[in-house]
Amino acid sequence: MSNPSADTMKREAAQAALGAVEPNMKLGLGTGSTAAHFVDLLGARVQAGLKVICVPTSERTREQAAALGIPLTTLDELPELDLVVDGADEFDASRRLIKGGGGALLREKIVAAASKRMFVITDATKEVKTLGAFPLPIEVDRFGAQSTQLHIERTARGLGLIGPIIQRRNKDQTPYITDGGHYIYDCSFGAIDAPELLAERLAAIPGVVEHGLFIDLATAIFVAGSQGVRILGNAA
Ligand code: A5P
Repeated sequence: MSNPSADTMKREAAQAALGAVEPNMKLGLGTGSTAAHFVDLLGARVQAGLKVICVPTSERTREQAAALGIPLTTLDELPELDLVVDGADEFDASRRLIKGGGGALLREKIVAAASKRMFVITDATKEVKTLGAFPLPIEVDRFGAQSTQLHIERTARGLGLIGPIIQRRNKDQTPYITDGGHYIYDCSFGAIDAPELLAERLAAIPGVVEHGLFIDLATAIFVAGSQGVRILGNAA
């Protein structure tokens, strides 16, 4: 039997997480290609009569969900959610994540923090022993961004993390701007042995709006692989 494609696995993880959705839930909708499968599947359930209300984590997801007729609101209207379902770029056995490859880390983290539970949907290729193979995205305010970059570099070096810090750019080389109007710096630090400490130090830098280390947020990770979907953590 041939191995399922990455896209098939993403959809399987999304399908498994959808099983936890109950009528009248207040849901956060993640961003990225895996989360897009979840939104798609949820849209079909809504069209079949399921009642839910959702907060999207990006303009992209908002557009997708609206096109499918999924009822949407904002955290201002609904500051507490039951569950957010989102993807990840990398995860470890302690359910620590790197997110932000799709540029939505700030809203993703705000929505995750507003949710009682966070289900991460992913394929097995994103599991790592130590976080950091995927460049860590850091969202930075545009004001003084060069200074903030220097500050990030020094802070990382203080923890023995050395590696290129590259400002994310669009295909036409213009700076990538997030939904919140900020820059993103992708940091190729390599293995991050102390993610909690790095998270704490990055958060203390003026100009850093948010970083892509998601710690103590994921309650369960749905990992799709060739043998089906495995659940890391508590999906009850
Ligand atoms: C978006 O900013 C990210 O955090 C995504 O959740 C992450 O990049 C995973 O994306 P894919 O599902 O497309 O791999």
